[in-house]
Amino acid sequence: MNKKINEIKKNLTTSHIGKNIYYVKTTDSTNNLAKKHISYPCGTVFLSDIQTNGKGRNNRLWVSDDFLGLWFSILLKPQITVEKIAQITLLTGISVVETLNKDFFQDTKIKWPNDIVLSDKKLGGILCESIFYNNELSGVICGIGLNINQHQFPLELNNIATSLKEEYNKDFNKDLILSKILNRFEEYYDIFLKEGFSPLLDLYKSYCITLNKELLLDYNGEKINAKAIDISQDGNLIIKKDDELIEVSSGEVSVRGLFGYV
Ligand code: BTN
Repeated sequence: MNKKINEIKKNLTTSHIGKNIYYVKTTDSTNNLAKKHISYPCGTVFLSDIQTNGKGRNNRLWVSDDFLGLWFSILLKPQITVEKIAQITLLTGISVVETLNKDFFQDTKIKWPNDIVLSDKKLGGILCESIFYNNELSGVICGIGLNINQHQFPLELNNIATSLKEEYNKDFNKDLILSKILNRFEEYYDIFLKEGFSPLLDLYKSYCITLNKELLLDYNGEKINAKAIDISQDGNLIIKKDDELIEVSSGEVSVRGLFGYV
């Protein structure tokens, strides 16, 4: 077996997530790689060191510096209704933040719905894509990108992106971080499959820096100011605009703080 896969598996305690790891040095996007192998078992992890066309949310490009970050996708085959798919993104955010905060250091947070934030800058992001066949959900691909060992970013990202190395001034072991994220992910994913998202909601809120903030939202093509009030049981954001409470889903809005990225 590949040495890298061995290193990752050595620290895995899971029963299904990451039991299969499909590693390639280079690919366009690990989400695309997973899509091509949608028949692989649930829990397969697609991992690469170089993404030539990493995808971010809202059709943005995800800058994936060669070898310096963690770029991977988990293939899932949940039997759930379509409205619940967004909750997988939220529980992925919890898994990443809990891992970093409990196993490495203590300061990462979540910007709703799924930006991983450190020192008010973006450390990572999550892009979940659903694959349908004959109107049936045949898989959910949960792609995770984390900036780990970059020591600098292009000028245009300098004020909004960060890496673990930039914050803590040392190199991190990407394989170990991945194993630990997968261990936690399985724990939360299993709770979600058995009991839904509600047992995880308070934990999500405890990490969510968006709550109680004045926001600038891009809502169906319109820019609006509103205050974030709560997260609903479904994982939607509840905002207050002109004394009216509105529940918005992650597909409908893009969120910024009034004075910058958070
Ligand atoms: C975001 O815009 O915040 C989501 C970024 C998701 C990036 C990851 S990197 C691994 C996986 N493969 C991709 O092409 N995108 C996701």
